[in-house]
Amino acid sequence: MTSLSPENNSSIPKEKEVDTLEIDLEKAVRNRKNFAIISHPDAGKTTLTEKLLLYGGAIQQAGAVKARGEQRKVTSDWMELEKQRGISITSTVLQFEYNQITINLLDTPGHQDFSEDTYRTLAAADNAVMLEDAAKGLEPQTRKLFEVCRLRKIPIFTFINKMDRPGQEPLSLLDEIEAELGLATWAVNWPIGSGDLFRGLIDRKSKDIMIYSRSERGKQSLEKRFNINDPELNDLVEDDLLEKALEELELLEEAGSDKDFGKIRSGELTPVFFGSAMTNFGVRPFLDSFLEMAQGPVARKAIDGPVDPLSDAFSGFVFKLQANMDPRHRDRVAFVRVCSGRFKKDMSVRHARTGKVIRLSRPQKIFAQERAVVEDAYPGDVIGLNNPGMFSIGDTLYTGQRVEYEGIPCFSPEIFSWLRNPNPSAFKNFRKGVNELREEGAVQILYDSDPSKRDPILAAVGQLQLEVVQHRLGSEYGVETRLEPLSFQVARWVDGGWPALEAVGRIFNSKTVQDSWHRPVLLFKNEWNLNQLKEDHPELALRAVAPVVSGVDPITL
Ligand code: G4P
Repeated sequence: MTSLSPENNSSIPKEKEVDTLEIDLEKAVRNRKNFAIISHPDAGKTTLTEKLLLYGGAIQQAGAVKARGEQRKVTSDWMELEKQRGISITSTVLQFEYNQITINLLDTPGHQDFSEDTYRTLAAADNAVMLEDAAKGLEPQTRKLFEVCRLRKIPIFTFINKMDRPGQEPLSLLDEIEAELGLATWAVNWPIGSGDLFRGLIDRKSKDIMIYSRSERGKQSLEKRFNINDPELNDLVEDDLLEKALEELELLEEAGSDKDFGKIRSGELTPVFFGSAMTNFGVRPFLDSFLEMAQGPVARKAIDGPVDPLSDAFSGFVFKLQANMDPRHRDRVAFVRVCSGRFKKDMSVRHARTGKVIRLSRPQKIFAQERAVVEDAYPGDVIGLNNPGMFSIGDTLYTGQRVEYEGIPCFSPEIFSWLRNPNPSAFKNFRKGVNELREEGAVQILYDSDPSKRDPILAAVGQLQLEVVQHRLGSEYGVETRLEPLSFQVARWVDGGWPALEAVGRIFNSKTVQDSWHRPVLLFKNEWNLNQLKEDHPELALRAVAPVVSGVDPITL
């Protein structure tokens, strides 16, 4: 990639070359869906992903998505830190075709690698699949990710997994979603029994019954469909189980929400599916219905208004940066979500923040550990660009008329640590590293409100994020640093800033710091202390997600 020229260079290509391009773009947008899975670790995200990819023919065998243990060590060429920890930092996006639809599944890192990137990925997703373990119901990580989806008002589809195991009553699982998330539910299918007594699913629309059978060949279940009046069913399902399921469905018809496409599109109503990813039961019907109901690439909000994906001009934004993914090249990759127009290899685009024109000569698609050069990409797709330090999270790239997408907000950090530089002679590099990594979006930097304590506080969503920053400070800036953990777990921004905070007077059991944009941030040791403050000062509005700031110089070290 080469930077060609400063602002006002007129070498940006005209997009409207030939009419056929427009037809291609329209068709490509019509046939594209993109989504991310939101779940708590162990709900079955990897298993479900594997099964979805099998339908797309993208992988030959289950187990290929996340190679584990020894196998992983052999095949992985990800960054050194990842290797040391033996975990998967990211595969970022998996693209596969199914029924002539191009599906982009954006990966949301979830285990030890849960980080701000997980939230940011949701900024690039048009739909979300909320995956629950039927025995556990809603879990903390799912709730947090759901909140981000709610802010973006994207459609949310729920898959209740592990029905082959004893689980909670399906009605109480729906109640929990409605009561705790304030999200209305509409069951697309309904389970007959669960655990050892799991017999299958009733399709709510056709009333067909799909019988679950523990197949002798491995763990895959056969999906045999029967009409509800088929006498053969008598041998396959106990009367009382079927009766109970039908009664519950009747209850839903009477007291449940109506199916409303408008509400599905705005994320107010979630279609719910039951199934078992491991035995591949209910996954294909889920995929079929999901593709029918999910939204395609939508017009995305830019500062000057929404941008139509069918617009002639290309635009996209950076939602994630990854450093040193391939240790042989020590490179950095910026992941760009294409929002409008057609992206072509070697295209010159303008970088909205700096005004520079950049030629994108080696765009990549990254599939698990494989990389391939992309010839073209369309709205809803993700491309990986080599990033010689030019891109930051939220940056917009465009051709034609200037576009600048609304930035990606700051998400509530959960891990805090002083970053110490024990070697004063390395201060220059320390400062450079901290400022650049903050600008890039690798970590949030907070500062003590006492100016004599000038060391930065690193604030991250996951522990790995801190380790990556420390590792990069060493390898890229040559400074060895020390992390001194602070015992806080919750952060909230204050609506109304410093004046609102001063108006409530002294606050107990919390530490006030400022973020890099001079905004007050309250740190709490636990949720309990946060709730205490909310009770004592209901007038104080606190936010877990802080909007992007523009036109203000950040605090630098
Ligand atoms: P994650 O990515 O969300 O963390 O979950 P993952 O798919 O790794 O699944 C977590 C565990 O749950 C795995 O078992 C997996 O086999 C199991 N699992 C997933 N879907 C189902 C299901 O529908 N039914 C049942 N009974 N189990 C399911 P594990 O023992 O931790 O790993 P493994 O030995 O199976 O690889």
